[in-house]
Amino acid sequence: MSERTLVLVKPDGVRRGVVGEVISRIERKGLTLVALELRTLTRETAEAHYAEHSSKPFFGELVEFITGGPLVAMVVEGPRAIEAFRALAGATDPVAATPGTIRGDLALEIGENIVHGSDAPDSAEREIKLFFPEV
Ligand code: CMP
Repeated sequence: MSERTLVLVKPDGVRRGVVGEVISRIERKGLTLVALELRTLTRETAEAHYAEHSSKPFFGELVEFITGGPLVAMVVEGPRAIEAFRALAGATDPVAATPGTIRGDLALEIGENIVHGSDAPDSAEREIKLFFPEV
């Protein structure tokens, strides 16, 4: 059974020049790209995307960061794609993330952890609709 997940290479990843590295890891894993776009988020889209974090103390900082430059949004498909990408990404805190994962290899700070991946089927569906209503 195939599943879809929303993956973002966040503005820090674009600035650092690791978009190709992230895509390469996704492709080498055997997952498939079904949509991809470089775009700069509006505040509205960023707040909608991170709505579940709206009460967190870092919400303002998170919205500033994610709207602060272009990001690459993609829809990734494959068997258990949500879990598969989260395993590739590693733990949210890059210092705790296992070496060999995207965050474990490429990042140091929790607020600048290179990638986002949907964490469950309902959030994947909501996030994909928000970024790619036509897919
Ligand atoms: P992401 O998977 O995009 O979803 C929510 C994001 O909030 C998370 O990645 C982190 O980058 C960010 N985040 C989590 N905790 C903190 C924190 N303490 N300070 C700043 N950003 C955070």
